[in-house]
Amino acid sequence: MTIDHEPLKFAYWVPNVSGGLVVSDIEQRTDWTYDYNVKLAQLAENNGFDYALSQVRYTASYGADQQHESTSFSLGLLTQTERLKVIAAVHPYFWNPAVLAKWLITADHISGGRAAVNVVSGWFKGEAVDLGVRWLEHGERYRQSEEFVRVLRGLFESAEKGPFSHQGDFYQIHDFQLKPGPIASEGRPHPEIFQGGNSTAAREVAGNVIDWYFSNGKDFDGFTEQYLEVNQNAQLAGRAGAVRFGLNGFVVARDTEQEARDVLEEIVAKANPDAVEGFRQAVQQAGASTADGKGMWADSTFRDLVQYNDGFRTGLVGTPEQIATRIVEYKKRGVNLFLLGFLHYLEDIEYFGARILPIVRELEAELAAKDGVALEPVS
Ligand SMILES: Cc1cc2nc3c(=O)[nH]c(=O)nc-3n(C[C@H](O)[C@H](O)[C@H](O)COP(=O)(O)O)c2cc1C
Repeated sequence: MTIDHEPLKFAYWVPNVSGGLVVSDIEQRTDWTYDYNVKLAQLAENNGFDYALSQVRYTASYGADQQHESTSFSLGLLTQTERLKVIAAVHPYFWNPAVLAKWLITADHISGGRAAVNVVSGWFKGEAVDLGVRWLEHGERYRQSEEFVRVLRGLFESAEKGPFSHQGDFYQIHDFQLKPGPIASEGRPHPEIFQGGNSTAAREVAGNVIDWYFSNGKDFDGFTEQYLEVNQNAQLAGRAGAVRFGLNGFVVARDTEQEARDVLEEIVAKANPDAVEGFRQAVQQAGASTADGKGMWADSTFRDLVQYNDGFRTGLVGTPEQIATRIVEYKKRGVNLFLLGFLHYLEDIEYFGARILPIVRELEAELAAKDGVALEPVS
């Protein structure tokens, strides 16, 4: 395959719910409060991070006893940063797409074009039912998500093209025009649309309508399998090359490989078995429930589930050199962005920016030079 020499982008999971990114009783010097997160967002944008992803959770789920709402939290972070793009996760079954479009465009204007959205089709049946939403089966949830994104796009375009109407199975819009529309921002016509989900249905929706496909943590082959299928789907939908790829990974970086491996083993050894088991049972509502059994968590082991999104599978554990080398190996296979989680966010993000990122940039420049491409330095 030809390598995309655009410099890799980096995102982090916003810890806007309590308990950190691993279901473990190991000490985690990470906090879920707003003040902590403002400090973190500012630190992240000064350490090479391009994006932050706020999680959507309304009620405790096998951990995460406290939750801040994703869209308001994202807006808060946008107002306190200068360059960071903040992606708010939303479930289509809780939103009217026109109301979300209005929110996004206002957030976009407030932030100078830095608002984005992550459309997630959900796995947490108990939460939806508690909030009075009828729980659709997996394929229907994805049909709803695709319709939701088509409406969002139609609305974004309505600012220029004129009023938009839609008569669908899930949403109806009558002659509605977004005023104001998205603001002009480099490299994107409107707020970017991400999607989290890896099942066959998720891959189809990604090919049809999504800008960025997020994958759970995967080894090289696991990532490639999704990369090929989503690209093929995009081609069939007349959108060849339109989808970009983000990969989740949990970083444990230390000066020696042994230290990093010891930390990982301690995280797993101190995992809370009841919480991991509760989570495992609940996520059977995701791709595992479909006929082909493909999707996030369909083949996750106990160890994988200690990091909610299979982040250990990506193998970003070791010295800065080892992690940077592995990151660039994924780039060769088509990854455009890494979505990262950490144990002690403030310390680990600073370490990432100081020790790992410079090596990534050097390796990317070497890779580009081999293909005769000169890369602009990335700040
Ligand atoms: C990067 C990423 C972020 C996600 N964020 C959330 C979230 O904030 N809240 C949530 O309920 N589900 C979240 N999900 C899970 C999805 O809602 C969905 O259940 C999951 O992707 C399973 O989809 P699949 O069956 O297509 O594999 C996320 C998934 C990914 C990949």
